Amino acid sequence: MRDRNHFSGDIEKTTMSENAIIPTVLVLGSTGQIGGLITERLMNSTAVKVRITSRRKEEVERQKDLGKDIVYLDLDKPESIGKALAGVDRLFVLTGYTVAMLTQSKVLIDSAKKAGVGHIVHLGIFGEWDCTDPHFAWHQLIESYIKTSGIRWTNLHPNMFMENVLAFFAPKGGRFSTYWGKQRMGWVAGEDIANVAAKVLLDGPEKHHAKDYWMSTEVLDAFDISDILSEVLNKKIEGELKSHEDFKAVFTGGNIEVEDWYAEGAIEFTRQVSNGEMGYIGTIRNDVPFITGKPAITFKQWAVKHKGQLLSNM
Ligand SMILES: NC(=O)c1ccc[n+]([C@@H]2O[C@H](COP(=O)([O-])OP(=O)(O)OC[C@H]3O[C@@H](n4cnc5c(N)ncnc54)[C@H](OP(=O)(O)O)[C@@H]3O)[C@@H](O)[C@H]2O)c1
Repeated sequence: MRDRNHFSGDIEKTTMSENAIIPTVLVLGSTGQIGGLITERLMNSTAVKVRITSRRKEEVERQKDLGKDIVYLDLDKPESIGKALAGVDRLFVLTGYTVAMLTQSKVLIDSAKKAGVGHIVHLGIFGEWDCTDPHFAWHQLIESYIKTSGIRWTNLHPNMFMENVLAFFAPKGGRFSTYWGKQRMGWVAGEDIANVAAKVLLDGPEKHHAKDYWMSTEVLDAFDISDILSEVLNKKIEGELKSHEDFKAVFTGGNIEVEDWYAEGAIEFTRQVSNGEMGYIGTIRNDVPFITGKPAITFKQWAVKHKGQLLSNM
C-alpha cells in the first residue's frame, strides 16, 4: 500500500488498485557510506521500488545505463528537487557536514510535502534534546521541522560511526588517538545503521511513525579500541588520549577539507565530551536488535571485516 502524505488527501482517495502499488523509496546520499549501504539492502527487496540520486550528472547517466532509477538531485539547487520527488512515498533524508544542511533540509521537507511524500526517515545524531553542540543542534532543528511538516516520520540517532576509524581516527604510526581525553565514546557500525534504516523504509510509517531509534551499541575508550585493533591486526597499536585542542590540528593540517563552521562545531563536540557536558555520548542505547532481530555488530567484528582497509591506511 502506498503511504502518501495525509495532508494531500491522497489517503482518502486511494482506490483498491492503488493499494496494490509498491511504494517508491528515495534514498538521499546513495553515493555515500550510509546511503550506499541502505540502497544495497533495499535493492535486494521486491517490497519497495528504490530511487537513488546524485548531484553529478555523469553519475546519473552511468547508473541509468545500468538500469537504475536514478535522478539528478542537488540539494543546493531547489529546482532539481520537485522532479526527483514526484511519485515518491518514503524518503530517506541525509544532509550534513556543512551549515547549509539547514536550508537544504528545509527546502527538501517543504518539497516532500508538496510531492505528497508519506514518510520521512531522517539520519540524525545521538544527542540530548537540549545539547548545544552546533552540528547536533542543526540536526535537532531539522528533526523539529520534520515533525511540524505533518509528514509521518522516524528519526534515527546513531552515535560515532565505527567507519570513522577508517578516516578521521585512522590509526597511524602504531597509535590510535581519541580527542576527548579519558572519556568513553559510544560507537555503531554503519551496517547496523543501514539495517535499521532499510527495515524502517521497508515496513513504512504504519509501523514506525513517531519513533526515535537510538544506536550507540558499544562503549569504548582509546585503550579498548587499541587493544582490539592490536589483536585483530596482529600489530601493536598504542592508545593515545589527546584533547580537543589537538583536534584543531586535524583541521588545520591541510589533509581534511571542511568548512570553518563545521570544523568549529567538531572541536566544540570534542571539548564538551572531554569536560563531561556530553556524558551521555559514552552510554549504550541499542535499539538495533529490536528493529533488525539481530545483535548489533561489535567493534571487534567490524575490525575483522575491515582488516584489509585498516592495514592499508596505516
Ligand atoms: N560520522 C559520524 O560519526 C556520524 C555520527 C552521527 C551522525 N552522522 C551523520 O551522518 C551523515 C553523513 O552520512 P555519511 O557518512 O553516509 O555521508 P557521506 O558518506 O559523506 O555521503 C554524503 C552524501 O550526501 C551527498 N550530498 C552531498 N551534498 C549534496 C547535495 N548538495 N545534494 C545532494 N546530495 C548531496 C553526497 O553525494 P555526492 O556523491 O554528490 O558527494 C553523498 O552521497 C551526516 O548527516 C552526519 O551528521 C555522522
